[in-house]
Amino acid sequence: MNDAILRYNLVERVMHWISAITYCYVLLTGLAFYSPHLYWIATLLGGAPTSRYWHPWVALVFTAVLFWMLRVWLGDMRITPQDRVWGDAVGHYIRNEDEDLPPIDRFNIGQKYFFWAMLYSGIVLVLTGLVLWFPELIPWSLRSFRYVAVLLHVAAALISIGAFIIHVYMGTAVVRGGFTSIIRGEVSPAWARTHHRLWYHRVTGR
Ligand code: HEM
Repeated sequence: MNDAILRYNLVERVMHWISAITYCYVLLTGLAFYSPHLYWIATLLGGAPTSRYWHPWVALVFTAVLFWMLRVWLGDMRITPQDRVWGDAVGHYIRNEDEDLPPIDRFNIGQKYFFWAMLYSGIVLVLTGLVLWFPELIPWSLRSFRYVAVLLHVAAALISIGAFIIHVYMGTAVVRGGFTSIIRGEVSPAWARTHHRLWYHRVTGR
């Protein structure tokens, strides 16, 4: 593409794909521990001891990448009054009436909510996960804390799974051109103008 616009630079793409790979590993091994019906996943991933060993370590890498994303994308992820106007008009988005949508910057409010949902559920997951990783460090008098940690760990995991399913569906099946941008980095001017007009004006000066 000659007149292509850079949507994600190499660092952003590497960061994104490390988050995707680590999240999928932690998700799959976590599902294996969650239910006996899903235990076969651990077998496919090298066995239960291997899965149990790597699950918390890979989770730490995922959490670190979430904070890396926060540093790189914080400026783009803050919810603005324009996002709320766009959110109020989301019916046009659902009906594919893109021309009737108010202009938005680099990310829409759904993408921003997704980011914050992953960050906050990731924080709850890592904090409660540490309790489950080192239960012997919790004093016996605070043992009920462990049960709370189990419940919160599962609740945060379910929220992140819901957000993740919507994210992958939107990125691969609904918004054409989005997936190419997170692989190759570039989008066409028409794509940028249609989906993120304020961002298009900002980066092209047109
Ligand atoms: C196999 C899994 C994944 C796929 C196929 C995928 C796909 C995509 C695509 C296509 C985009 C570009 C969207 C656009 O600019 O229009 C994107 C952006 C993004 N991805 Fe992923 N992703 C995956 C996993 C993850 C995970 C686990 C996270 C966890 C934090 C994540 C966080 C983000 C964020 C914050 C953005 C930028 C804002 C957004 O588009 O939501 N992705 N992803």
